[in-house]
Amino acid sequence: MIDTRKLANIALIGFMGTGKSSVGRLVADTLHFTFLDTDDVIEARAGKPITEIFAQQGEPAFRQLECGLVGELTRRDRTVIATGGGLPVNPANLASLKTHALVVCLWASPEKIFERVRHQAHRPLLNNPDPMAKIRALLATREPFYHQADVLVNTEMRSIKEVAHQVIHQFRLAQSVHR
Ligand code: S3P
Repeated sequence: MIDTRKLANIALIGFMGTGKSSVGRLVADTLHFTFLDTDDVIEARAGKPITEIFAQQGEPAFRQLECGLVGELTRRDRTVIATGGGLPVNPANLASLKTHALVVCLWASPEKIFERVRHQAHRPLLNNPDPMAKIRALLATREPFYHQADVLVNTEMRSIKEVAHQVIHQFRLAQSVHR
């Protein structure tokens, strides 16, 4: 139902490590759009990293902050929004994004995700004795939500630049249908 929607923005959804922030920055630079990362906004407002928000206030509090921020995004224009990996699990968040943005899901296999995130420590959900099992389990539960994106882009065999080009191509296509 893209043709009845306003496509002022691009929202990137997808699992941790699929490249939403890197791709989003490049897409925004290329299109001369503003770049916004929901995790960065939440951290800046809270004055602490997400790991601390999770540890001190719990995941439900983080999800509330995320949901509140999604509500504010309806006022944005010409913005590339990189979202936290769990954000589209709340159907209200996905529905809200779809009112103003083309929603693009970046996809990768659990093995590829593990390879990309294994040396990073800033994701509380992966601070787990068996991160690979955690990735598989989380990805399996989230897959139905990710698949509700307007467009699915496989990042597996592609560079950040190639994925960014795909996203821009899909955005232009959707805009031409929409006009
Ligand atoms: C999360 C993903 C993270 C961040 C938080 C929770 C998730 O964002 O929002 O740690 O639930 O998948 P990235 O997908 O940008 O790593």
